[in-house]
Amino acid sequence: MRKNIVAGNWKMNNNLQEGIALAKELNAALAGKTVNCDVVIGTPFIHLASVASAIDTGKIGVAAQNCADKASGAYTGEVSAEMVASTGAKYVILGHSERRAYYGENPEMLKEKTLLALANGLTPIFCIGEMLEEREAGEHFNIVKWQIEESLFDLSAKEFGKIVLAYEPVWAIGTGKTATADQAQEMHAFIRDVLDGKYGKDVSDNTSILYGGSANAANAKELFSKPDVDGGLIGGASLGVDRFMPIIEAF
Ligand code: 13P
Repeated sequence: MRKNIVAGNWKMNNNLQEGIALAKELNAALAGKTVNCDVVIGTPFIHLASVASAIDTGKIGVAAQNCADKASGAYTGEVSAEMVASTGAKYVILGHSERRAYYGENPEMLKEKTLLALANGLTPIFCIGEMLEEREAGEHFNIVKWQIEESLFDLSAKEFGKIVLAYEPVWAIGTGKTATADQAQEMHAFIRDVLDGKYGKDVSDNTSILYGGSANAANAKELFSKPDVDGGLIGGASLGVDRFMPIIEAF
């Protein structure tokens, strides 16, 4: 059965010392506790190795927020999937709307990144989601389907079985304007249908689909109560243990 996952995306916040302290604080809060979801933290690249060695990675998975679309070589400033895996990270967030919008990431690049992540044993947390204009134009289902098809539908069913999806409507990210639980459910059910059409029920039933966009302690329970919402990708509210723990405990 698919897993429930609560993943934090720290984005470009916290220097190294602050990041280690936050990770340790979360580790301490989870120690000796049983929670009903997998917990992941997505840190900046330079934090990965230190964070992975400061926490119990059996309890908290570590994620990068990106990786290169090339395996290795003369790509100044890039960080490969192999390098990410060598830090002890087990996940990589790919296709976040901020990377698509500000760094020109397109479906073709994301396809390469996904293949490299999988080849290096990382679990991609692959982000999809429409912009406000697209929703207002009634295009949100088409856009999300297209994002999935263009980057992921060359994968075999076995490869796709390793993907976690995160539906993050762009208009809900960092705006305080969460999608309603019904809007999230509607899109997640649609996504599962798209997966069913391509890969069949086994894959669609077993794919974790997370919701992201202004999720917080106050709305997590309702979002997670929906049958096709398998967790959250949490930005702002993952930056404090007092705000992140209640989301984890919403399961
Ligand atoms: P916020 O939770 O800050 O809206 O960010 C969501 C997000 O982009 C997670 O990847």
